[in-house]
Amino acid sequence: MQMSKRISSFQASPIRRLVPYARAAEKKGIHVIHLNIGQPDIRTPEEAIKAVHGYNEPYIAYGLSEGEPELREGLCEYYKKYNATVAPDEIMITTGGSEALQFVFMTLCDPYDEVIIPEPFYTNVSTFAATAMVNLVPVTSRIDDAFVLPSIEEFEARISKKTMAILLCSPNNPTGHVYTRQELSDLLQLCKKYDIFLIVDEVYREFCYDGAKFTSVLTFEEYADRIICIDSFSKRFSMCGARIGAIVSHNKEVLASAMKLAQARLCPPAIEQVAAVAALKAPEEYIEAVREEYERRRNMLVSGIQEIPGCKVSRPKGAFYFVVDFPIDDAEKFSVFMLRDFSWEGNTVMFAPAEDFYVTKHLGKTQARIAYVLNEDELRKAVKCLEEGLKAYRRKCCNQQGFSGYNQ
Ligand SMILES: Cc1ncc(COP(=O)(O)O)c(C=O)c1O
Repeated sequence: MQMSKRISSFQASPIRRLVPYARAAEKKGIHVIHLNIGQPDIRTPEEAIKAVHGYNEPYIAYGLSEGEPELREGLCEYYKKYNATVAPDEIMITTGGSEALQFVFMTLCDPYDEVIIPEPFYTNVSTFAATAMVNLVPVTSRIDDAFVLPSIEEFEARISKKTMAILLCSPNNPTGHVYTRQELSDLLQLCKKYDIFLIVDEVYREFCYDGAKFTSVLTFEEYADRIICIDSFSKRFSMCGARIGAIVSHNKEVLASAMKLAQARLCPPAIEQVAAVAALKAPEEYIEAVREEYERRRNMLVSGIQEIPGCKVSRPKGAFYFVVDFPIDDAEKFSVFMLRDFSWEGNTVMFAPAEDFYVTKHLGKTQARIAYVLNEDELRKAVKCLEEGLKAYRRKCCNQQGFSGYNQ
């Protein structure tokens, strides 16, 4: 039996595809420190957990395809904190930001249309684009330039008749770049000139550091019609498993069109929407404490890894990831080595090889995305593991004639 050519061409997620190696290491009794995935160890707001415990309906029914009114109204209140005025009918609740991205690709693009995206980018976007048969056209940002937004001219040079949108993520996964008001404004002008959309994934908007100021794309009212914002409760309230996200747009046609997909999948998760409504009522101190915690973790992990000889890191200003360039041949082979052949005092580290966070071939081969989502004790152990693991990997590469790392 053959699978479709389409699915055969999709990538397996670099965030998760090495999990079998991690499982095997765990079976051997090795503690795997998971820096590969944005799964925080932070507590979900107690309001949300209580709401789940208090769910007391006789049965769990389908809800509205666009999501429950209470949640959409709650979000409108929440967006006010970011100076954005949004009405409930400008929000569609989705099964995570992941579904929001898929719906948006399907809604805006025909097969072989193009979406321009700064690379490296959140790797699963490749699969969402491939599902909709959309070509991602990359504009490369570089670790040596702290991954700042490439020039507007570089974006403009890539616009073709097939370009439907530019897609950004701010604060950025994986680079940690936070787009300034000026950068967003320049891109919006460009979008207006070519009559295309600007999609901004803002799922990390709470997490900005070093005084970096977050600007929501929803505040650019003069461009309202061409703006689409992707949102999610996963990271903000550490409720990744709840699978609640949203598409937010003043463009009614976008939401009305996406509604065909929303209706076909019936509705977003029911109990989790109840939890999400409650999470929005968590006190401001909850978010501020979480933000401070990530900032501490970032400081610790970035300086720890920067001190490892040969490692290059771009200090992130937001989200909870950064890209590290290792002094090795191939980050994926190094990752397999760490999981299969290495441990330090019973620990090892899993990270996400970064090559598939790029479209341009051969970029990112020696890089990895690191998530600083675990407590500082774990992160300290992770630094030591990486330092010792790098030494061991390089020794092995030198000792074995013709050794070029590990085949999976
Ligand atoms: C930038 C970005 N967008 C969207 C998502 C999807 O999140 P979810 O589907 O859990 O809402 C993620 C998850 O890591 C992400 O990093």
